[in-house]
Amino acid sequence: MKKLLLLMIIPLLLTGQKARSDEGMWIPILIEQFNIKIMQEKGFMLTAEDIYSVNKACMKDAVMIFGGGCTGELISDRGLLITNHHCGFGRIQAHSSLEHDYITDGFWAMSAEEELPNPGLSVTFLKYMKDVTEEVNAGIKKKMTEEEKDELRNSNIAAIVSGAMEGNDYRAFVRPFYMGNQFFLFVNETYMDVRLVGAPPSAVGNFGSDTDNWVWPRHTGDFSLFRIYADRDNKPAAYSEDNVPYKPAYHFPISLKGVQEGDFTMVFGYPGSTQQYVPSYHIDMLINHVYPKMIDLRTAKLDIIVADMESDPGVRIQYASKRSGISNSWKRWIGEMNGMTKLGTVAKKQAFEREFTEWLKAKNKRFKQYGHILPAYEEIYADLKKYNLINSYSGEILGRGGIEAIGFAGRFSGLVELAGDENREESVKGALSRVERNVAGFFKNYNMPTDKKLFVELLNLYGENIPEEYQAEEYKKLYASCNGDFSAVADEIYQKSIFTSEERCMEFLSGFTFDKLHMISDDPIYKLGISSGEILREKIMPEYSRLSAAVSDLNREYMTAQLEYAGDKVLWPDANMTLRVAYGNVGGYDARDAVYHTHYTTLRGIMEKDNPEIYDYNVPQKLRELYQAKDYGRYAQDGEIPVCFIANNHTTGGNSGSPVINGEGHLIGVNFDRAWEGVMSDFMFNPTQSRNISLDIRYALFLIDKFAGATYLLDEMTLVE
Ligand code: ARG
Ligand code: GLU
Repeated sequence: MKKLLLLMIIPLLLTGQKARSDEGMWIPILIEQFNIKIMQEKGFMLTAEDIYSVNKACMKDAVMIFGGGCTGELISDRGLLITNHHCGFGRIQAHSSLEHDYITDGFWAMSAEEELPNPGLSVTFLKYMKDVTEEVNAGIKKKMTEEEKDELRNSNIAAIVSGAMEGNDYRAFVRPFYMGNQFFLFVNETYMDVRLVGAPPSAVGNFGSDTDNWVWPRHTGDFSLFRIYADRDNKPAAYSEDNVPYKPAYHFPISLKGVQEGDFTMVFGYPGSTQQYVPSYHIDMLINHVYPKMIDLRTAKLDIIVADMESDPGVRIQYASKRSGISNSWKRWIGEMNGMTKLGTVAKKQAFEREFTEWLKAKNKRFKQYGHILPAYEEIYADLKKYNLINSYSGEILGRGGIEAIGFAGRFSGLVELAGDENREESVKGALSRVERNVAGFFKNYNMPTDKKLFVELLNLYGENIPEEYQAEEYKKLYASCNGDFSAVADEIYQKSIFTSEERCMEFLSGFTFDKLHMISDDPIYKLGISSGEILREKIMPEYSRLSAAVSDLNREYMTAQLEYAGDKVLWPDANMTLRVAYGNVGGYDARDAVYHTHYTTLRGIMEKDNPEIYDYNVPQKLRELYQAKDYGRYAQDGEIPVCFIANNHTTGGNSGSPVINGEGHLIGVNFDRAWEGVMSDFMFNPTQSRNISLDIRYALFLIDKFAGATYLLDEMTLVE
């Protein structure tokens, strides 16, 4: 009898463990409470305090937000940091020209003097975080309306934030978690002098480019190196020649031991946003209404831009960054759509919603409290899907990021608004210099013929896909004036406009007088942008904002209910660009029938893809030679140079550049992407196919050492053999 019982218990325990998938992006200060045991079972040999602590130097002191939306980590005690090539790319491009083409040739500072400063680039460290839910909700009464509650919460938050910033130079903010069911305070320190130290050529750092993007197997050496500078007291300071390398409390030791299938991995970084707890209606809106149209629109943009890049090296440099941006989400949407369709995400969510509703019905009080949520969602999403699409679609054509000259012309509205101003003669100087500051930057990356093609193609798509009642008035007028043949008017418009030529633009600004204002306000390009703003304000945004606000109120309630429904099961909060821990193990996956992907790639794979005819696959000659000579130094594993590896860490956009850490707490990789079959993990993680892609740190070291010869950088790192 005893034996029988035991036999029955064991399988239960085993499946219990298995069912604990590695999904989740966890909160550093709650690791001790919720995760550390599981992490240690998986192979982590350190403690929660080694990850996050306010009392001693720990990993969090070496992890930063890099620029706006990436992660980076310190790898030396002299402020040296590593992040992705695609995260540093904007800076690499900014320093590039046809004479100094760092995109194509790479860049390596061989001494501190050669490092390149980057105005506007900053990195931000977390000093500490704290659960402030009680303080935020202090004084909230059941009887209050939602508006009253929000108002009180906001004033509580303001007090918490100003308290946290008293007597220091830190920046503090409070962020909602679980859709506003919990609140955390974050106190940060930002460094502003960050210099470019090294970047491999694009054919390494962006190898395979948009073709290989979001796909495994992958061979991209996606890293770049920067150095943080501080003042003499090690505090943040604006760029100055007198600044000195930042001395961090902690930097990551780097492991040369290699990566094996099954090894523990942890990703510690800044995931931007996930939508794990939304209702089925939201997924339906995205994959059946919004994504298909947005994908087509971006396909059209990319066709034009890529063709021009391929036929002109100058345009290739100018549009490299824009193209990556457009292409990256475009491809992710396609992957998410495929993934969610295959996974049956809508049906799975619907099944959950049925069970949830049964659970509500089991208790009268519960049903009274939460029973309205799902029916209300259904009603709102019926309209929201329409306005969501119109808003995104119009924005991608007549707003910023659409037809380029229109976005640029929008910056001149300040000048036009001065027309009726009594003090206009005084105010105009400031307005002119604000505009002037943007001109060179805009035209550096602007190719008029490309934009003219975008103009014709995108206006056609606008007419086909935006219902007439939501079309901008000026669009309709232009359409009527040319009988819908935009190519017939594009030449003339682009030949005359001050927004399509740097010369015309500067000439206009330098000889500005108020009687020339009509050159802005009569310009068809300017008028399209203004008119689009009008219809947005008058007809689209009022509805779209009302519906979005209603959804966000429901989200908070639905989340409360889901937390209650989950009982003892701990739910992780959606990503919100705060520091998180994801853990799991290195491992391959079944991609599709008869195709299993192993967990790592090597330099051999790069040589297999080598193709001098294709820019993104044209392996640098030096790398070919190193491969021929098998000159691998101490960076090889089983006679090969490792390039990338995959694991089942739950990551998302923003995790680019995040440290990938082994069981001993040493750096083994730099996260940069996810594998195609699993990219729907922002909405639903698929344990069998969701994989994050990381650069193997030994590939970066090999390149720094053997390819670039920047060995002085290795000397300042802490390498663990
Ligand atoms: N997919 C990765 C991310 O979301 C890499 C993007 C950069 N690479 C590219 N080829 N666009 O950021
Ligand atoms: N490449 C992404 C980034 O820039 C990371 C990949 C992902 O979305 O998981 O953050």
